[in-house]
Amino acid sequence: MTHISKLPTLLPTGADAVYVVTGGNRGLGLEHVRQFLEKTQAHVVATTTKSPPSEANNLRLLADQGKSHRLTVVTLDLSDESSIKVSHLSCMGIAEHERT
Ligand SMILES: NC(=O)c1ccc[n+]([C@@H]2O[C@H](COP(=O)([O-])OP(=O)(O)OC[C@H]3O[C@@H](n4cnc5c(N)ncnc54)[C@H](OP(=O)(O)O)[C@@H]3O)[C@@H](O)[C@H]2O)c1
Repeated sequence: MTHISKLPTLLPTGADAVYVVTGGNRGLGLEHVRQFLEKTQAHVVATTTKSPPSEANNLRLLADQGKSHRLTVVTLDLSDESSIKVSHLSCMGIAEHERT
C-alpha cells in the first residue's frame, strides 16, 4: 500500500489537476483533502452528505485557512442516485473549468 505522503510524487500535482475526495468532511477523507491542498497545487472537490454543503464544518474551517480558491465542497449522498448524478455534473464542470 502506498502511503499518502508518496502521492504527490506519483500523481499530477499541477494546477490543472482535480482530485475528488468522497467523504471529505471527516476522518480519512478530511486528511486526504488536507494533504492534497498542502502538497499539491491541484483543485480539490470534497464531498459531504451535508446539504447545503456549507454545513460541512470541518471543510469550512479548512477553506477559511486561505486555500478556499482550490477547494470546492459538493453534496453527495451515495445512497441517492439523483445526488450522485448532480454531484457528478458539478465535478465535471469543475474539471472542465480547471482545464481551460
Ligand atoms: N481498511 C482499513 O484499515 C480502514 C481503516 C480505517 C477506516 N476504514 C474505512 O474507511 C472508511 C472511512 O473511515 P473514516 O474513519 O474516515 O470514517 P468516518 O470518519 O466515519 O467518515 C465517514 C465519511 O463518509 C461520509 N459518508 C457517510 N455516509 C455517506 C453517504 N451515504 N454518501 C456519501 N458519503 C457518506 C461522511 O460524510 P459526512 O461527514 O459529510 O456525513 C464522512 O465523511 C470507513 O468505511 C472505514 O470503515 C478502513
